[in-house]
This record gives sequence, C-alpha cells and structure tokens, in this order.
Amino acid sequence: MKKEDKKIFIFDTTLRDGEQCPGASMTEDEKIMVAKQLARLKVDIIEAGFPISSPVQFSAVERISREIEGPVIAALARAVKDDIIAAHKALMHAKKKRIHTFIATSEIHMKHKLNKKPSEVLQMAVDAIKMARDMVDDVEFSAEDATRSDIIYLTEIVEAAIEAGASTINIPDTVGYITPNEYAEIFKTLHQKVKNADRVIFSTHCHNDLGLAVANSLTAVLNGARQIECTVNGIGERAGNTAVEEVVMAVQTRNNIYPFSFNLDAKQIHKSSKLISKVTGMVVQPNKAIVGANAFAHESGIHQHGIIKNRLTYEIMTPESIGLEGSRLVLGRHSGRAGFKQKVTELGIELNENDLNRAYERFLIIADKKKEIYEDDIIALIDDEVARTGQETYQLEYFQITSGTTVLPIAAVKIKNTEKGTSHEVEVEAVTGDGPVSALFRAIEKAVNITTKLEVFNITPITIGKDALGEARVGLKVKDSKIFYGRGTSTDIIEACAKAFIEALNKYKKLGA
Ligand code: KIV
Ligand code: ZN
Repeated sequence: MKKEDKKIFIFDTTLRDGEQCPGASMTEDEKIMVAKQLARLKVDIIEAGFPISSPVQFSAVERISREIEGPVIAALARAVKDDIIAAHKALMHAKKKRIHTFIATSEIHMKHKLNKKPSEVLQMAVDAIKMARDMVDDVEFSAEDATRSDIIYLTEIVEAAIEAGASTINIPDTVGYITPNEYAEIFKTLHQKVKNADRVIFSTHCHNDLGLAVANSLTAVLNGARQIECTVNGIGERAGNTAVEEVVMAVQTRNNIYPFSFNLDAKQIHKSSKLISKVTGMVVQPNKAIVGANAFAHESGIHQHGIIKNRLTYEIMTPESIGLEGSRLVLGRHSGRAGFKQKVTELGIELNENDLNRAYERFLIIADKKKEIYEDDIIALIDDEVARTGQETYQLEYFQITSGTTVLPIAAVKIKNTEKGTSHEVEVEAVTGDGPVSALFRAIEKAVNITTKLEVFNITPITIGKDALGEARVGLKVKDSKIFYGRGTSTDIIEACAKAFIEALNKYKKLGA
C-alpha cells in the first residue's frame, strides 16, 4: 500500500462475527437478504461465514458466493487444513473471493487455548497462508488477540505472513482491551519494523467491551490501516464490534480530521440498520449514534427553535445523508394492484408475481381496517407476509381471546403442524392475574407441546395514528437453548403477538431443535 493512498476498504462481518453473538442467528434466506443489502450498501468485502463450523454455515457461504455480486466474498478459516479446504469449497462460485485465516498470537491464547509454542503457531500461520494462496489470490491473515500479543513476536509473525503471501494483515482487538494511543503505537511499530509492510493492506478489527471500538478503528486508520472490519448496528460477540454506520459517518462528517474516502453508499445505512434489527430481533437502542430512533430527533424547545432557524445550529449531519426520510403517506383502500405494484418498485423491493399477489391480498385486508397506509406499513406487511414461505412447521389457523376487567382471560388457538400434517386445537384458561397475551402464549405452547421461557417481549407501533400497524417481537428459550426471536405485525396487536411467538418457535424448530 502506498502511504498516500486514502481509500478505506469496508470489510463487513455482520454475517460472521455479528451473527456469532447470542440470539443473532439468521436463517439462510435471511442471510441472503442481508448480503443483498450489504451489496447495495456497497461494502467492499462481505465476510459471509465460517464454513467449517457447521453445515448451515457452509451452505450459507456457498449460496452467498453464488448469488451476490459486487463485493469480495470472504470465508473464515482457522489456520488448519480442513478449515481452509472448507472455506475454499464454500467460496467456489464467488466471482471475487478471499480466504481469511487466523490464529491466536498472545501468550495467554497460545499457552492455554492452543497449547502451542510461539514457533509452532508461526509455522501453522505460514503453512495455512501458503495453502490458501495455492487456492485463491486474495488471502487475509488475522493475528487473533493481537493487541495483547508481544509486539516483537507480532512483528515476526506479520512479516512471515506477508512473506507467505497474505495480502491483508488484520490486527484484531479481540477482547476489546486496547486504548487508542496504544493501538496507534502497534500500527506505527508494525509499519516501521515489518519488512514489506507497504505491500499489504493493514486492517483493524475492534470489539467494543470498553466502548472504544469506533475510536480505536479510527485511530488505526490514522496510523496506516486501510481496512476497517465492522458490523451493521455494531452487533457482535459480547459488547459487539465496530459499528459500520459510526465509522463511516465519522469519516464523512469529520473529513478534515479523517481525510479518507470509501465506496460505501451512506444513504443505505438506515435501511441496512432496519433490516439487521428485523432479522436478528435485536432492537437498536433509541439513543444509539446514527441509527437510533432519537439520533435526529430534537426534543427541547431551545434546540427546536435553533433547528427551525438554521439546521446547522444543532445538526452535524442530515437525516437524509443516511437515507432517513420521514415515512410518507402513500396509499389508501382505493389504491389498485397497479398502484401497489408501482409503490413496491419505488421502494426498491423486488417481488415475484406470486409474492406480489400475496402482499397485495394482505394490503387489502389492512387497508380495510386502516384508512391511511404509509411506506413503513408497506415494508412491514411485505416483510411479514413474504417472509412466510408456507413451509414453516407451525402455522396459525385461528385464535380467539376473551378478556376483560371482570373475567379470567381465556385463549383458544388452532395451530397446524406441517411436519405431522395435523392441526391441533386447544383452549387455555389463564390463571388469575395474567392477561390475554399470557393466555395466548400458553395456549400456543400447549398446542405445540413445547414449553418456553419468554426472554424478550416488546410491542411498537410502526407508523402513527390509533389504527397504526403494531409490531410485536418475542425472544424465547426452549430448555437451555439460545434465544430465538420472532416478529409479527398486524393492526390487531394480539394477532401480532401470536405471529411473533409462532415465528420464534419455527426458528427454534429450524435452527435449534
Ligand atoms: O475478534 C477476532 O479476533 C476475530 C478474528 C477471527 C478476526 O473475530
Ligand atoms: Zn472479532
């Protein structure tokens, strides 16, 4: 890399490091949806997964390699033969591919996790890189826990990795321990001491345990890194990874301090954030920088007054710069199929005829109950309707709730079990003190004969007005499983809850059972 080169490569690891975090697992179709959005966001590299880790991971990387064009597709592999073979096989159909191999270089990891001497670890790294280079031209090497590694050893292994053929060298802060000044010193030392350092791209990969991931990543680029590894909404192991939206908007807004450029289309940030939140079920905190619901909201009178006079008084970036425009009123109950189709196309959503017809049918039902339909309603109803393939194990046939201030809540549900080709109808009377939602959830559990622990439950309106569509999210555990999330939308909030609960159970059946 030439020192004057100011282009930063965005390496998105939402589908790998992001997906690794508790509860964020996605189905294969959801991963494809996310990868398509990452391509629209114009990230340079998509890390699609860790193929050796499971058949589900392998298959997702293979499908992304076949179906996604634009970004380089990367697959993760430990520095061992079988991992590299699996990564190569999964990437077979990618037009642009990268094998990303890693091994830990800190004393604590080498001694207690790998049980290897530093010289053995160095040899494993070199062998893995050479093997990967025999398969593909683009190989990245990561020195896991680099920031807690001995700097002299780190210098040696990085030099050996370059010599073996790696073209990107990643210096991860795996446990989120480093501070900006210390991280700067590591990059400076590597640039000064490593032979041929100017021939490769140095990369930063930070975890957010101390809330320093973005600051550390930006410090790394000021000290010679030209690739930032990050995730949408900052999701990832423990406290998460560097948030793509935060580093990108910091560079764009403070270009005098960070004089770099990237390919990324910042106008796709809002959409990307919404999609990730939807498919992972991880709600974005309202005060989250850039993509939180309050990030561009001005509440206090003084601020509002200033904003009306001149937006620059309190606004350092515009909502439009991340693609956030208010949800517009678009259709009503008299809108025909052609109008609906045109709106869907304008929203950038691609639907085949069958899905369009299903979405339109659902639109008519909602339009009957709700006078005004907004863009966000259309996006939600399409997500809700089209995400259901008809192949799900459990399908809601009907539910009925009786509730009131003087009666015990009673729920009756009928659930079809497609595995068994049967429908199960049950009626459950909730115990005193519990409400209709609790009765509903118990009835569903009884119908499918699965006991769950409700870990997450929230309801939010999608647009404005008393007749707004409501979105319910639930996260549940079955025995000691991880959390499975589900979402449902409806003008009837109890129906939205039923859909969300059943979607979470279907995810459990698909991914966890
Ligand atoms: O945090 C880390 O060290 C990683 C590596 C595998 C790059 O995710
Ligand atoms: Zn990581």
